[in-house]
Amino acid sequence: MIKIPIIDLKKQIGPIRGELDAAIKKVIDNTNFILGEEVRNFEESVKKYCRVKYALGVSNGTDAIKLALVALGIKPGEGVLCPNFTYYATASSIATMGAVPVFVDIEPDTYNISAPKIEEAVKRSKNINLKAVVPVHLYGQCADIDNIVKLAQNYGLKVIEDTAQAFGAEYKGEKAGTIAECGAVSFYPGKNLGAFGDAGMVLTNSQSLAERLDILRNQGNKEKYQHVLLGYNHRMDTIQAAILQVKLKYLDAWNKKRQENAGYFDRNLEGLGIKTPLVAKYSTHIYHQYVLRLNNPSSGLIEHLRKKGIDTRVYYPVPLHLQECFTYLGYKKGDFPESEKASIETLAIPVYPDLTKEEMDYIISSIEEFLR
Ligand SMILES: Cc1ncc(COP(=O)(O)O)c(C=O)c1O
Repeated sequence: MIKIPIIDLKKQIGPIRGELDAAIKKVIDNTNFILGEEVRNFEESVKKYCRVKYALGVSNGTDAIKLALVALGIKPGEGVLCPNFTYYATASSIATMGAVPVFVDIEPDTYNISAPKIEEAVKRSKNINLKAVVPVHLYGQCADIDNIVKLAQNYGLKVIEDTAQAFGAEYKGEKAGTIAECGAVSFYPGKNLGAFGDAGMVLTNSQSLAERLDILRNQGNKEKYQHVLLGYNHRMDTIQAAILQVKLKYLDAWNKKRQENAGYFDRNLEGLGIKTPLVAKYSTHIYHQYVLRLNNPSSGLIEHLRKKGIDTRVYYPVPLHLQECFTYLGYKKGDFPESEKASIETLAIPVYPDLTKEEMDYIISSIEEFLR
């Protein structure tokens, strides 16, 4: 039987294996495993790629958000707005540093948080000292960041762009994660640019913020054994930087292939009564996920595709306000209707760059078979 996984990293790694092996060998030969020159080189490459002044390699995307919150001066007990339809880490990084996640529903067409929805949440959250907002560029498409930043300025909120899923996407010609105070990136292995383990980055154009982030990620050190801030061990491994440096060269080509695959799905699924992803005017979409939507629960289609050997995922089956770990926040079912609906009606199908036309045709005909 045909088997199509949701992502196939072996296919991605195969053609560049020699380059990766050489980069890893060099790190082993040099033995400079923490904040070695490969980290600085990769940071320089990202600065150029993203046209941003500062890029700081960190341990993962979760820590990138947490470091950004701490560096921006957010304190325990203060409120931080974020969508409730995102990966757990967007909200956990807020909650585990003692701040209070204040959830905001999403737009039904892009699945992203919007300025009007943030404003509604600000107005109903009078009992909490709101200090920041963490919009997420979900599935590889930017949230409407200009309007979010404008609104945030009106209410005195800092903005951290959760760019975990959208590294390389562009908002009105600027790279995701470089528009607001800072952007937090994840290089989790399954991301469009993925390490061979955990890695992340914080992007910013602010010199003072970059200086604080640099100290906070490295045990509060300004100089060795001079701990000026209560920092963390949230550094990027040299070996991950070396791997990412090799892979960064291919990112645009991989993202272009994802866009072509998405276009092929868009054209061939049209008219079947299934909603393909909407691309907003202000953003490019790099299809970290290609998410389809039905007018009813997607579970039947998911099961049909499973039987056909096609792997799918629901991102995310349980919105964050209904997760057990967040019950203390006091939300209940019905509070965020759009995310609750999206969690039932959507499914992500494989869209990774190495999908063949035959595999895409098989996915399309299998979907068609179910819908007809
Ligand atoms: C939206 C979002 N935010 C944050 C993260 C956390 O990144 P990491 O897994 O690198 O900690 C992820 C991905 O895993 C994510 O998808």
